[in-house]
Amino acid sequence: MASITPISRTQSLFKKPQFSVLKKPEAHFLSLPISSFPLKKVRMVVVAATTAAEKSKKRYPGEAKGFVEEMRFVAMKLHTRDQAKEGEKEPQGQPMAKWEPSIEGYLKFLVDSKLVYDTLERIVEKAAFPEYAEFKNTGLERSQALAKDLEWFKHQGHAIPEPSSPGVSYAQYLEELSENDPQAFICHFYNTYFAHTAGGRMIGRKVAEMILNGKELEFYKWDGDLSQLLQNVRDKLNRVAESWTREEKDHCLEETEKSFKFSGDILRLILS
Ligand code: HEM
Repeated sequence: MASITPISRTQSLFKKPQFSVLKKPEAHFLSLPISSFPLKKVRMVVVAATTAAEKSKKRYPGEAKGFVEEMRFVAMKLHTRDQAKEGEKEPQGQPMAKWEPSIEGYLKFLVDSKLVYDTLERIVEKAAFPEYAEFKNTGLERSQALAKDLEWFKHQGHAIPEPSSPGVSYAQYLEELSENDPQAFICHFYNTYFAHTAGGRMIGRKVAEMILNGKELEFYKWDGDLSQLLQNVRDKLNRVAESWTREEKDHCLEETEKSFKFSGDILRLILS
């Protein structure tokens, strides 16, 4: 994938203390012309550089398993402790056990989610960057399933609302990002689809029990074996990220917080 990340962007990476060990090795001497060293010194420099690079490599959690594992590691830390056992954030707001969802709120959530999935699926279909085309027809698409669910609610006599500001803002952000920042866009792609198959499903089950008489919506059903579909997408994400520089990977990981912020705003609609 073409590198379009300005270097300056990478300089703010991992400001947080837990990431401070992840810094790249000092590489400035590698850019000196080799011819400026006597042969013996060149050999020493190369050995030192390799050692530093190897050391720094080991410090990216999950890296050995592939880039998806790095994305997952960063995402899991951003959960609150009550959301997931790997979560590190303090619980905020109401714990899920005390949620009091309403059909109106849940419909807003579904409508905004549909806007986000419509947008993601259109972007991948259009493939402004050739790598996006890898993610066409993965089987994880949610747009059509959500359309069926909204139709079902309509038949039950519920008014389907227009998309609201959290969904509209996220869709707009994704459109812009997809045109000029593929690494950041892929971060949102991963988090949106994978979160929905994990916490998203837990939420769906809980809300269905509370306000839908246990009705299982299409949003939470996939054609085929979900774990296999997820594995296929993990493999593709890992392959695409293999061509990224360390800076591009870090830039992608850094976008995870925004993904949580936008998705969190949409999730909160359930309680509105
Ligand atoms: C109430 C909100 C949420 C709850 C209760 C929740 C809960 C969970 C749980 C239980 C897991 C599975 C952990 C495991 O594999 O052991 C998970 C995974 C994950 N969550 Fe969340 N989550 C929430 C919100 C989010 C949000 C807003 C995002 C990002 C947009 C997100 C992204 C992810 C990702 C990427 C995974 C990894 C999935 C995988 O490995 O297949 N989650 N979440």
